[in-house]
Amino acid sequence: MHTIDPKELRVAFGSYPTGVTVVTARRADGTPVGFTANSFSSVSLDPPLLLVCPGKFLSNYATFADCTHFAVNVLAQGQDDIADIFARYKGDRFAQVDHTVDKHGLPLIENAAAQFSCQTHQSIPMGDHSILIGQVLAFSQSDTLGLGYGGGRYLNFAPQIAAQ
Ligand SMILES: Cc1cc2nc3c(=O)[nH]c(=O)nc-3n(C[C@H](O)[C@H](O)[C@H](O)COP(=O)(O)O)c2cc1C
Repeated sequence: MHTIDPKELRVAFGSYPTGVTVVTARRADGTPVGFTANSFSSVSLDPPLLLVCPGKFLSNYATFADCTHFAVNVLAQGQDDIADIFARYKGDRFAQVDHTVDKHGLPLIENAAAQFSCQTHQSIPMGDHSILIGQVLAFSQSDTLGLGYGGGRYLNFAPQIAAQ
């Protein structure tokens, strides 16, 4: 039987270009937490649902798997440094990044392409990740294009067709 090598599978999954988000929540003690995620997907318009997949390897996995609310910040082109902070930096990530806080205490990253504040709709453990489905309570959007990711690199897309 052909065995699936997780490292090779990761590379194959990575050939699918995505956007880049920072998912944020608040621990029970009030500490804000966040991680970079490209597993974001829109799910439904009515009701308004989206999903993201937190990995069980995350230091704050329990917070994301059990949270009542979370936010998804779609990073804008040029926010590669913010993506790196929320993927790698081990200190206070929020001290490095301009952000506001919504009425649920969720950090929202300034100048993101879009921000979605969500109530957890369902959290489903799935393999080595969870599927965290959120109902959108509020959102904002700018005209900035989102940052891309593919083949293990950040992509700053050049639109092929001028705005009509
Ligand atoms: C472009 C990119 C996309 C990522 N997507 C995800 C994801 O969808 N889910 C996830 O759990 N981790 C994802 N990661 C990894 C986490 O961002 C990283 O493991 C996390 O920030 C580590 O946080 P920690 O130090 O608190 O454990 C991604 C990393 C990068 C650079």
